Amino acid sequence: MKEKVEILSCEVQKEENPYKPERARIVRKYDLTNDVRFFQVRICNPEKVMEWTTNYKPGQFMMLSIPNAGEAPFSITSSPTRPGVFEFSIRKVGRLTGKLFELKENDFVWLRGPFGNGFPVERMWGKDLLFVAGGLGAAPLRSVLLYALDNRERFGKMYYLYGAKTPEEVLFKNEFEEMLQRDDFECHLTVDKDPEGNWPYDIGVVTTQFKYVKDIDVNNTAAIVCGPPVMYKYVIQEFLELGISEENIYMTLERKMKCGMGKCGQCVVGHKYTCIDGPVFTLWDVKTIRNLI
Ligand SMILES: Cc1cc2nc3c(=O)[nH]c(=O)nc-3n(C[C@H](O)[C@H](O)[C@H](O)COP(=O)(O)OP(=O)(O)OC[C@H]3O[C@@H](n4cnc5c(N)ncnc54)[C@H](O)[C@@H]3O)c2cc1C
Ligand code: FES
Repeated sequence: MKEKVEILSCEVQKEENPYKPERARIVRKYDLTNDVRFFQVRICNPEKVMEWTTNYKPGQFMMLSIPNAGEAPFSITSSPTRPGVFEFSIRKVGRLTGKLFELKENDFVWLRGPFGNGFPVERMWGKDLLFVAGGLGAAPLRSVLLYALDNRERFGKMYYLYGAKTPEEVLFKNEFEEMLQRDDFECHLTVDKDPEGNWPYDIGVVTTQFKYVKDIDVNNTAAIVCGPPVMYKYVIQEFLELGISEENIYMTLERKMKCGMGKCGQCVVGHKYTCIDGPVFTLWDVKTIRNLI
Protein backbone atom coordinates (compact mmCIF):
# COMPACT_ATOMS: atom_id res chain seq x y z
CA MET A 1 0.00 0.00 0.00
CA LYS A 2 1.16 3.55 -0.69
CA GLU A 3 2.33 5.87 2.02
CA LYS A 4 -0.46 8.03 3.41
CA VAL A 5 -0.52 11.83 3.43
CA GLU A 6 -2.42 14.12 5.76
CA ILE A 7 -5.70 15.03 4.05
CA LEU A 8 -8.43 16.04 6.43
CA SER A 9 -10.76 18.48 4.74
CA CYS A 10 -11.85 16.96 1.44
CA GLU A 11 -13.27 20.21 0.07
CA VAL A 12 -13.39 20.25 -3.69
CA GLN A 13 -11.52 23.34 -4.90
CA LYS A 14 -10.86 22.63 -8.57
CA GLU A 15 -12.15 25.37 -10.87
CA GLU A 16 -11.96 24.24 -14.46
CA ASN A 17 -14.23 23.69 -17.42
CA PRO A 18 -16.08 20.59 -16.20
CA TYR A 19 -16.82 19.45 -19.77
CA LYS A 20 -13.15 19.26 -20.69
CA PRO A 21 -11.74 15.80 -20.14
CA GLU A 22 -8.16 15.42 -18.97
CA ARG A 23 -5.95 12.77 -20.50
CA ALA A 24 -4.72 10.09 -18.11
CA ARG A 25 -2.41 7.11 -18.55
CA ILE A 26 -3.18 3.62 -17.27
CA VAL A 27 -0.18 2.91 -15.05
CA ARG A 28 -1.35 -0.38 -13.56
CA LYS A 29 -4.18 -2.81 -14.08
CA TYR A 30 -5.04 -6.27 -12.85
CA ASP A 31 -8.06 -8.51 -12.56
CA LEU A 32 -9.93 -8.45 -9.28
CA THR A 33 -12.39 -11.12 -10.44
CA ASN A 34 -13.44 -12.73 -13.74
CA ASP A 35 -15.19 -9.58 -14.91
CA VAL A 36 -13.95 -6.79 -12.61
CA ARG A 37 -10.64 -5.10 -13.30
CA PHE A 38 -8.64 -2.67 -11.18
CA PHE A 39 -7.24 0.34 -13.04
CA GLN A 40 -4.72 2.78 -11.61
CA VAL A 41 -4.46 5.89 -13.79
CA ARG A 42 -2.33 9.00 -13.63
CA ILE A 43 -3.24 12.40 -15.08
CA CYS A 44 -0.72 13.09 -17.87
CA ASN A 45 -0.25 16.79 -17.11
CA PRO A 46 2.27 16.74 -14.21
CA GLU A 47 1.07 20.16 -13.00
CA LYS A 48 -2.41 18.77 -12.40
CA VAL A 49 -1.58 15.44 -10.79
CA MET A 50 -1.58 16.58 -7.15
CA GLU A 51 -4.36 19.15 -7.60
CA TRP A 52 -6.69 16.52 -9.08
CA THR A 53 -5.83 13.64 -6.79
CA THR A 54 -6.15 15.54 -3.50
CA ASN A 55 -9.29 17.55 -4.30
CA TYR A 56 -12.05 14.99 -4.14
CA LYS A 57 -14.18 13.31 -1.51
CA PRO A 58 -14.51 9.58 -0.91
CA GLY A 59 -17.74 8.49 -2.61
CA GLN A 60 -17.41 10.86 -5.56
CA PHE A 61 -17.16 9.59 -9.12
CA MET A 62 -15.41 10.53 -12.35
CA MET A 63 -16.75 10.45 -15.89
CA LEU A 64 -14.31 8.22 -17.78
CA SER A 65 -14.24 8.19 -21.57
CA ILE A 66 -12.51 6.58 -24.51
CA PRO A 67 -12.88 8.20 -27.96
CA ASN A 68 -15.49 6.38 -30.10
CA ALA A 69 -16.46 4.11 -27.20
CA GLY A 70 -18.35 6.51 -24.94
CA GLU A 71 -18.26 7.98 -21.47
CA ALA A 72 -19.67 6.70 -18.16
CA PRO A 73 -19.51 7.37 -14.41
CA PHE A 74 -17.21 5.27 -12.22
CA SER A 75 -16.67 5.58 -8.48
CA ILE A 76 -13.20 6.57 -7.40
CA THR A 77 -11.85 3.57 -5.51
CA SER A 78 -8.76 5.34 -4.20
CA SER A 79 -8.56 7.86 -1.35
CA PRO A 80 -7.36 11.49 -1.48
CA THR A 81 -5.09 10.53 1.43
CA ARG A 82 -3.04 8.52 -1.10
CA PRO A 83 -2.67 11.00 -3.96
CA GLY A 84 -0.81 10.80 -7.27
CA VAL A 85 -3.19 8.40 -8.98
CA PHE A 86 -6.88 7.62 -9.33
CA GLU A 87 -8.01 4.04 -8.92
CA PHE A 88 -11.14 2.44 -10.32
CA SER A 89 -12.67 -1.04 -10.09
CA ILE A 90 -14.67 -1.65 -13.22
CA ARG A 91 -17.03 -4.43 -14.27
CA LYS A 92 -17.12 -5.28 -17.96
CA VAL A 93 -20.76 -4.91 -19.01
CA GLY A 94 -20.95 -3.19 -22.41
CA ARG A 95 -19.43 -0.96 -25.05
CA LEU A 96 -17.20 1.39 -23.03
CA THR A 97 -16.15 -1.09 -20.39
CA GLY A 98 -15.50 -3.70 -23.11
CA LYS A 99 -13.15 -1.27 -24.86
CA LEU A 100 -11.50 -0.37 -21.56
CA PHE A 101 -10.71 -4.03 -20.93
CA GLU A 102 -8.85 -4.12 -24.29
CA LEU A 103 -6.49 -1.32 -23.19
CA LYS A 104 -2.98 -2.03 -21.95
CA GLU A 105 -0.78 -0.30 -19.40
CA ASN A 106 0.46 3.05 -20.82
CA ASP A 107 -2.68 3.44 -22.96
CA PHE A 108 -4.83 6.54 -22.37
CA VAL A 109 -8.28 7.22 -20.97
CA TRP A 110 -9.95 10.60 -20.40
CA LEU A 111 -11.39 11.85 -17.12
CA ARG A 112 -13.82 14.60 -16.08
CA GLY A 113 -14.73 15.31 -12.51
CA PRO A 114 -14.90 14.73 -9.65
CA PHE A 115 -18.70 14.71 -9.51
CA GLY A 116 -21.32 13.92 -6.89
CA ASN A 117 -21.60 14.80 -3.23
CA GLY A 118 -19.40 12.05 -1.76
CA PHE A 119 -19.53 10.96 1.88
CA PRO A 120 -19.68 13.76 4.47
CA VAL A 121 -16.47 12.48 6.08
CA GLU A 122 -15.96 15.52 8.29
CA ARG A 123 -19.43 14.96 9.79
CA MET A 124 -18.33 11.43 10.66
CA TRP A 125 -15.33 12.53 12.70
CA GLY A 126 -15.59 11.31 16.29
CA LYS A 127 -18.12 8.60 15.38
CA ASP A 128 -17.93 4.82 15.32
CA LEU A 129 -18.02 3.55 11.74
CA LEU A 130 -19.82 0.47 10.48
CA PHE A 131 -19.17 -0.37 6.82
CA VAL A 132 -21.13 -3.10 5.04
CA ALA A 133 -20.31 -3.96 1.43
CA GLY A 134 -21.44 -6.63 -1.00
CA GLY A 135 -19.78 -7.65 -4.27
CA LEU A 136 -18.74 -4.63 -6.37
CA GLY A 137 -19.98 -2.35 -3.55
CA ALA A 138 -16.49 -2.70 -2.12
CA ALA A 139 -15.31 -0.32 -4.88
CA PRO A 140 -16.85 2.99 -3.70
CA LEU A 141 -16.51 1.95 -0.06
CA ARG A 142 -12.76 1.36 -0.44
CA SER A 143 -12.25 5.12 -0.85
CA VAL A 144 -13.95 6.07 2.43
CA LEU A 145 -12.47 3.04 4.20
CA LEU A 146 -8.90 4.01 3.24
CA TYR A 147 -9.64 7.63 4.18
CA ALA A 148 -10.85 6.51 7.65
CA LEU A 149 -7.89 4.16 8.16
CA ASP A 150 -5.48 6.94 7.18
CA ASN A 151 -7.17 9.25 9.69
CA ARG A 152 -7.74 6.47 12.22
CA GLU A 153 -7.38 8.71 15.30
CA ARG A 154 -10.39 10.78 14.15
CA PHE A 155 -12.85 7.91 14.45
CA GLY A 156 -14.13 5.59 17.18
CA LYS A 157 -14.61 1.88 16.69
CA MET A 158 -14.49 0.66 13.11
CA TYR A 159 -16.07 -2.44 11.60
CA TYR A 160 -15.97 -3.57 7.99
CA LEU A 161 -18.28 -6.42 6.95
CA TYR A 162 -17.89 -7.71 3.41
CA GLY A 163 -19.77 -10.41 1.56
CA ALA A 164 -19.48 -11.87 -1.94
CA LYS A 165 -21.28 -14.72 -3.66
CA THR A 166 -18.23 -17.00 -3.94
CA PRO A 167 -14.50 -16.74 -3.02
CA GLU A 168 -13.74 -15.97 -6.70
CA GLU A 169 -15.92 -12.87 -6.50
CA VAL A 170 -14.25 -11.33 -3.45
CA LEU A 171 -12.77 -7.95 -4.34
CA PHE A 172 -9.48 -6.77 -2.76
CA LYS A 173 -8.95 -10.07 -0.92
CA ASN A 174 -5.24 -9.37 -0.31
CA GLU A 175 -5.96 -5.94 1.13
CA PHE A 176 -8.65 -7.33 3.41
CA GLU A 177 -6.26 -10.01 4.62
CA GLU A 178 -3.75 -7.28 5.52
CA MET A 179 -6.53 -5.44 7.35
CA LEU A 180 -7.38 -8.59 9.32
CA GLN A 181 -3.97 -8.17 11.02
CA ARG A 182 -4.83 -4.72 12.38
CA ASP A 183 -5.86 -4.47 15.99
CA ASP A 184 -7.50 -1.02 15.70
CA PHE A 185 -10.16 -2.17 13.28
CA GLU A 186 -12.38 -5.24 12.76
CA CYS A 187 -12.81 -6.72 9.32
CA HIS A 188 -15.03 -9.77 8.62
CA LEU A 189 -15.34 -11.57 5.31
CA THR A 190 -18.00 -14.01 4.19
CA VAL A 191 -19.17 -15.74 1.03
CA ASP A 192 -22.66 -17.08 0.25
CA LYS A 193 -21.25 -20.40 -0.91
CA ASP A 194 -17.88 -22.07 -1.25
CA PRO A 195 -18.10 -24.73 -3.98
CA GLU A 196 -14.36 -25.60 -3.82
CA GLY A 197 -14.27 -25.81 -0.02
CA ASN A 198 -11.10 -23.67 0.30
CA TRP A 199 -12.53 -20.52 1.83
CA PRO A 200 -10.94 -19.93 5.26
CA TYR A 201 -13.46 -17.39 6.54
CA ASP A 202 -17.20 -17.41 7.20
CA ILE A 203 -19.93 -18.74 4.93
CA GLY A 204 -23.32 -17.05 4.87
CA VAL A 205 -24.90 -13.85 3.65
CA VAL A 206 -23.33 -10.58 4.78
CA THR A 207 -26.00 -9.92 7.42
CA THR A 208 -24.71 -12.97 9.37
CA GLN A 209 -21.62 -10.85 10.10
CA PHE A 210 -23.54 -8.45 12.32
CA LYS A 211 -22.92 -10.94 15.15
CA TYR A 212 -19.39 -9.51 15.35
CA VAL A 213 -20.54 -5.93 15.89
CA LYS A 214 -20.24 -5.21 19.58
CA ASP A 215 -19.98 -2.21 21.83
CA ILE A 216 -20.62 0.48 19.25
CA ASP A 217 -22.25 3.67 20.45
CA VAL A 218 -25.39 3.47 18.32
CA ASN A 219 -26.23 7.11 19.01
CA ASN A 220 -22.86 8.10 17.62
CA THR A 221 -22.32 5.69 14.72
CA ALA A 222 -22.23 6.31 10.98
CA ALA A 223 -23.29 3.21 9.03
CA ILE A 224 -22.45 2.91 5.35
CA VAL A 225 -23.81 0.30 2.95
CA CYS A 226 -23.03 -0.35 -0.70
CA GLY A 227 -23.80 -3.42 -2.77
CA PRO A 228 -26.37 -5.07 -5.01
CA PRO A 229 -29.91 -3.65 -4.61
CA VAL A 230 -31.23 -6.86 -3.01
CA MET A 231 -28.83 -6.41 -0.09
CA TYR A 232 -29.98 -2.97 1.02
CA LYS A 233 -33.29 -3.96 2.60
CA TYR A 234 -31.75 -6.61 4.86
CA VAL A 235 -28.66 -4.61 5.84
CA ILE A 236 -30.73 -1.51 6.61
CA GLN A 237 -33.02 -3.63 8.78
CA GLU A 238 -29.93 -4.73 10.78
CA PHE A 239 -28.73 -1.13 11.15
CA LEU A 240 -32.16 -0.07 12.42
CA GLU A 241 -32.37 -3.02 14.81
CA LEU A 242 -29.01 -1.96 16.25
CA GLY A 243 -30.59 1.45 16.89
CA ILE A 244 -28.71 3.56 14.32
CA SER A 245 -30.80 6.53 13.19
CA GLU A 246 -31.96 7.10 9.59
CA GLU A 247 -29.80 10.24 9.30
CA ASN A 248 -26.69 8.24 10.14
CA ILE A 249 -27.25 5.48 7.58
CA TYR A 250 -25.54 6.27 4.26
CA MET A 251 -25.72 4.49 0.93
CA THR A 252 -24.49 5.12 -2.59
CA LEU A 253 -27.05 4.75 -5.36
CA GLU A 254 -26.52 4.33 -9.09
CA ARG A 255 -28.58 5.86 -11.87
CA LYS A 256 -27.82 6.19 -15.55
CA MET A 257 -25.93 9.44 -16.07
CA LYS A 258 -24.81 11.51 -19.02
CA CYS A 259 -23.36 14.89 -18.03
CA GLY A 260 -22.56 14.16 -14.36
CA MET A 261 -23.26 17.75 -13.34
CA GLY A 262 -26.96 18.51 -13.21
CA LYS A 263 -27.47 19.68 -16.83
CA CYS A 264 -29.01 16.85 -18.85
CA GLY A 265 -31.70 15.58 -16.46
CA GLN A 266 -30.84 11.94 -17.15
CA CYS A 267 -30.40 11.05 -13.47
CA VAL A 268 -33.31 12.98 -11.95
CA VAL A 269 -35.43 11.24 -9.31
CA GLY A 270 -38.23 13.31 -7.80
CA HIS A 271 -36.65 16.72 -7.24
CA LYS A 272 -33.11 15.35 -6.87
CA TYR A 273 -30.27 15.05 -9.35
CA THR A 274 -28.45 11.83 -8.45
CA CYS A 275 -25.28 13.24 -9.99
CA ILE A 276 -25.11 16.31 -7.73
CA ASP A 277 -27.38 15.58 -4.73
CA GLY A 278 -26.02 11.99 -4.72
CA PRO A 279 -24.82 9.38 -5.33
CA VAL A 280 -24.52 9.29 -1.50
CA PHE A 281 -27.87 9.49 0.28
CA THR A 282 -29.01 8.88 3.84
CA LEU A 283 -31.81 6.50 4.67
CA TRP A 284 -33.80 9.57 5.65
CA ASP A 285 -33.36 10.94 2.06
CA VAL A 286 -34.41 7.59 0.62
CA LYS A 287 -37.57 7.53 2.73
CA THR A 288 -38.54 11.08 1.88
CA ILE A 289 -37.79 11.06 -1.88
CA ARG A 290 -40.08 8.83 -3.93
CA ASN A 291 -38.48 6.19 -6.19
CA LEU A 292 -34.95 6.94 -5.05
CA ILE A 293 -34.34 3.27 -4.34
C1 LIG B 1 -22.32 7.13 -9.71
C2 LIG B 1 -21.98 5.84 -10.41
C3 LIG B 1 -20.84 5.14 -10.05
C4 LIG B 1 -20.52 3.96 -10.72
N1 LIG B 1 -19.39 3.30 -10.33
C5 LIG B 1 -19.05 2.16 -10.97
C6 LIG B 1 -17.85 1.47 -10.59
O1 LIG B 1 -17.12 1.87 -9.68
N2 LIG B 1 -17.56 0.35 -11.27
C7 LIG B 1 -18.36 -0.15 -12.29
O2 LIG B 1 -18.02 -1.18 -12.89
N3 LIG B 1 -19.48 0.49 -12.67
C8 LIG B 1 -19.84 1.64 -12.03
N4 LIG B 1 -20.97 2.30 -12.42
C9 LIG B 1 -21.78 1.74 -13.54
C10 LIG B 1 -21.15 2.15 -14.87
O3 LIG B 1 -21.30 3.55 -15.08
C11 LIG B 1 -21.81 1.39 -16.01
O4 LIG B 1 -21.53 0.02 -15.86
C12 LIG B 1 -21.30 1.88 -17.37
O5 LIG B 1 -22.06 2.99 -17.76
C13 LIG B 1 -21.40 0.84 -18.44
O6 LIG B 1 -20.97 1.43 -19.64
P1 LIG B 1 -20.81 0.52 -20.95
O7 LIG B 1 -20.72 1.44 -22.12
O8 LIG B 1 -19.70 -0.47 -20.79
O9 LIG B 1 -22.16 -0.29 -20.96
P2 LIG B 1 -23.45 -0.03 -21.88
O10 LIG B 1 -23.13 -0.62 -23.23
O11 LIG B 1 -23.89 1.38 -21.79
O12 LIG B 1 -24.51 -0.90 -21.09
C14 LIG B 1 -24.32 -2.27 -20.83
C15 LIG B 1 -25.37 -2.71 -19.81
O13 LIG B 1 -25.14 -2.06 -18.55
C16 LIG B 1 -26.32 -1.37 -18.14
N5 LIG B 1 -25.93 -0.12 -17.46
C17 LIG B 1 -25.31 0.95 -17.97
N6 LIG B 1 -25.16 1.93 -17.05
C18 LIG B 1 -25.67 1.43 -15.90
C19 LIG B 1 -25.82 1.93 -14.58
N7 LIG B 1 -25.45 3.17 -14.23
N8 LIG B 1 -26.40 1.14 -13.66
C20 LIG B 1 -26.81 -0.09 -13.99
N9 LIG B 1 -26.71 -0.62 -15.21
C21 LIG B 1 -26.15 0.12 -16.17
C22 LIG B 1 -27.07 -1.09 -19.42
O14 LIG B 1 -28.45 -0.92 -19.19
C23 LIG B 1 -26.78 -2.34 -20.23
O15 LIG B 1 -27.63 -3.40 -19.85
C24 LIG B 1 -21.35 3.47 -11.77
C25 LIG B 1 -22.50 4.18 -12.13
C26 LIG B 1 -22.82 5.35 -11.45
C27 LIG B 1 -24.05 6.10 -11.83
S1 FES C 1 -26.32 13.09 -15.27
FE1 FES C 1 -27.00 14.88 -16.27
S2 FES C 1 -28.27 15.81 -14.79
FE2 FES C 1 -27.39 14.13 -13.72
